[in-house]
Amino acid sequence: MSSALDLFDLKGKTALVTGASKGIGRAIATGLAEAGADVALLARSTTALEEVAGEVEELGRRALVLTCDVTEGEQIRAAARTVLAEFGGLDVLVNNAGGIGHAGPFLDLEFDDWTRVLRLNLESTVHACQVFGRHMVERGTGSVVNLSSIAGLGGTPMLSHYAVTKAAVVSLTRTLAAEWAPAGVRVNALAPGWVRTDLTSTFFADPRATENLLAAVPSGAFGVPREVVGSAVYLAGDASRGVTGSCLVVDGGTTCFVGGPQMLGFLQHGRIPA
Ligand SMILES: NC(=O)c1ccc[n+]([C@@H]2O[C@H](COP(=O)([O-])OP(=O)(O)OC[C@H]3O[C@@H](n4cnc5c(N)ncnc54)[C@H](OP(=O)(O)O)[C@@H]3O)[C@@H](O)[C@H]2O)c1
Repeated sequence: MSSALDLFDLKGKTALVTGASKGIGRAIATGLAEAGADVALLARSTTALEEVAGEVEELGRRALVLTCDVTEGEQIRAAARTVLAEFGGLDVLVNNAGGIGHAGPFLDLEFDDWTRVLRLNLESTVHACQVFGRHMVERGTGSVVNLSSIAGLGGTPMLSHYAVTKAAVVSLTRTLAAEWAPAGVRVNALAPGWVRTDLTSTFFADPRATENLLAAVPSGAFGVPREVVGSAVYLAGDASRGVTGSCLVVDGGTTCFVGGPQMLGFLQHGRIPA
């Protein structure tokens, strides 16, 4: 008889992670390999990907390095041809590659920054979902995990363009989930809170601003890439069999802290006559 833990077993499955050279994508890629999957690793830095491939192979899994710029649709299609030829099929697609590019008021946002981040965070996901989605729909099985962010779940001053792309990723996720559910293909989003990676290193370089922000994280700690792995493995495989169109928030409680820390002093008054 199979156990509940078997539902998290990805042995015999193949996965592709975009942005697998560092940060959250790298953690997810090695996490999927730990769970048993063969993993295609996609990013621009071949040397970093080869290092990750070494880690995947040490776990006894197959790794495939794909040097690719996800802002170029043709490069994604070429990478897809290689993956399908080498792996024979794809079970799990993790659209993780992304970036910020500009952090400041909307009125200072250059249109080029807007376009670049839209291409990197949203259009890359559209291209990958089209090419691998068609494959999965034809096979009648597959799981897509799209990286959103808590920035896409509400208003995010200073990151207007980034927030738009991450909100759109959730919208795309829900729409594709509904379109592809009859074909047996699931599509879910992951929305991390603040995680220490190269992407956020500029923000974390300011200790005072970092300390202020931490007060708004109920768990009292910023995320690390490894914390996102369990959710990714869950969404990738049979453990989440009935789950599609969801957005799993991994933020230490940040988005459920309505009003933030300032509200604590405002509200803490003991018994109030009714
Ligand atoms: N860190 C956070 O606090 C946080 C929070 C919420 C959501 N997220 C999301 O999580 C995802 C990963 O973020 P991260 O913090 O791990 O960022 P990161 O450390 O900067 O890593 C970004 C990854 O994307 C790849 N990438 C960037 N541009 C690319 C391109 N044009 N073509 C192919 N690959 C490209 C990078 O590889 P190369 O440079 O080698 O190409 C790298 O592997 C992003 O979608 C981000 O928006 C992050």
